Amino acid sequence: MSDFTKVAQLKELKEVQVKGVRVNGEEIALYRFGDEVFATSDICTHEQCVISENYYIDGEEVECTCHGSHFNIKTGENTVPPAAEPLKTYPTKVDGENVLVEI
Ligand code: FES
Repeated sequence: MSDFTKVAQLKELKEVQVKGVRVNGEEIALYRFGDEVFATSDICTHEQCVISENYYIDGEEVECTCHGSHFNIKTGENTVPPAAEPLKTYPTKVDGENVLVEI
C-alpha cells in the first residue's frame, strides 16, 4: 500500500535550492522545478555529507560540494565521481499546496 506523507508546503520550496526534511527516520532532500517536486536521499553516497547543507544545482543535477560528486535529481543517477552509487529517490505528489513523499 502506498504511504504518502506530507513533508512540506510548495511555497517553502524554491527553484535551485534544496530543502532537507526528516520523515519517519529518513533524511530526504526536496527539489522544485516549477510546480513539480522531486525527492532524493539527503545523504550523499560518497561520505555521507548532508546534501541540503552542501550543494550546487546545475539544471537537473545536484553537486554535493563536499567532494564534487554529481547526481541526477530526477533519477538519482551518479554522474560524476568520487561517489560510485546513486542516490535513493522517492515518489512525490503535489496536492494543492501540500508536497507529499512516499516513504
Ligand atoms: S560526501 Fe558527497 S561528494 Fe563526498
